[in-house]
Amino acid sequence: MTHSPLPQPNFSGSQNLQFFDDHPPAADIKTEVLAGLAKPQKTLPAKYFYDERGSQLFEAITGLPEYYLTRTEIGLLQQYGEEIADRVGQGAVLMEYGSGASTKIRLMLEALRPDCYVPMDISRDFLLASSQRLLDDYPWLSIYAGCVDYSQPVELPRTLEQASNKLAFFPGSSMGNFTPEEAQSFLRRVRATIGDDGRFLLGVDLDKDEAILHAAYNDAQGVTAQFNKNVLRHLNRVLSASFDETLFEHQALVNKSQSRVEMHLVSTVDQMVHIAGTTIVLRQGESLHTENSYKYRLESLQWMARQAGFELETYWTDENKYFALVMLKAK
Ligand code: AVJ
Repeated sequence: MTHSPLPQPNFSGSQNLQFFDDHPPAADIKTEVLAGLAKPQKTLPAKYFYDERGSQLFEAITGLPEYYLTRTEIGLLQQYGEEIADRVGQGAVLMEYGSGASTKIRLMLEALRPDCYVPMDISRDFLLASSQRLLDDYPWLSIYAGCVDYSQPVELPRTLEQASNKLAFFPGSSMGNFTPEEAQSFLRRVRATIGDDGRFLLGVDLDKDEAILHAAYNDAQGVTAQFNKNVLRHLNRVLSASFDETLFEHQALVNKSQSRVEMHLVSTVDQMVHIAGTTIVLRQGESLHTENSYKYRLESLQWMARQAGFELETYWTDENKYFALVMLKAK
């Protein structure tokens, strides 16, 4: 882990913002992307949707009529924030995996009033900008922001590692991007991070009617299509790739047997793409698999959580049972 010299320890004149950096070097990005493109079904890691434009497009998705996830989860946080705070109690360290969902974290911060908020995100600029905005609005808050890739093991600064009453917060059904195996090891890592008296509040999208899922990832305005294609722009920039997004079509399908929504970018022509010094060939109709979004059943989640050293303390869900906030407790 590198502790960045800038903007330590005080950023923009604030006494309340510290920063740690555990970000993978560009070489890892290259290796990871090329490994995915070498598979029979070519894949791109979903985390590369989120450069600045991608984060903005995702924000736009969260406001779409078809995308029920975000507004349902926000409704749950509004309704049950106090209950959540009562369970966790005073003096908490709130660690958020993937920051940026500002409405949700504001609801949590206002209800919980933690001693310290630890946003962790892969996008450093987004992280610093959103931290600064939170500090402007909540002068009582201390932030220890981490630029990290939480799909990999994260090394925390000592002071955080030793803190008690940690509440890990992973909203938005983002765990759905992990395969069940990855989700299992992620749960184990979070369990190690929060310690024996910690909790983990997890937002999960529940399995449901296929038509509702299909619509949520094939919105009428085509914002999800733009979001999907943005991964190509991002890779063009960071890996000097030569993707032409006009030669790809957005596809999102419900894979019932795997209990997930898949997004693909389908090549509309035979083409060659240069990326990080390599050339890849795509046939017409061949797809790049860009995202899995797993939909959980509470029973399977509970089972996974147990395997990882948690008990399911309680959960909150909406009247349609579309989405759940699940409180896991170290056992
Ligand atoms: C942020 C990963 C939860 O899977 O629903 C939205 C991303 N992909 N539309 C999801 C996404 C397509 C989203 N997560």
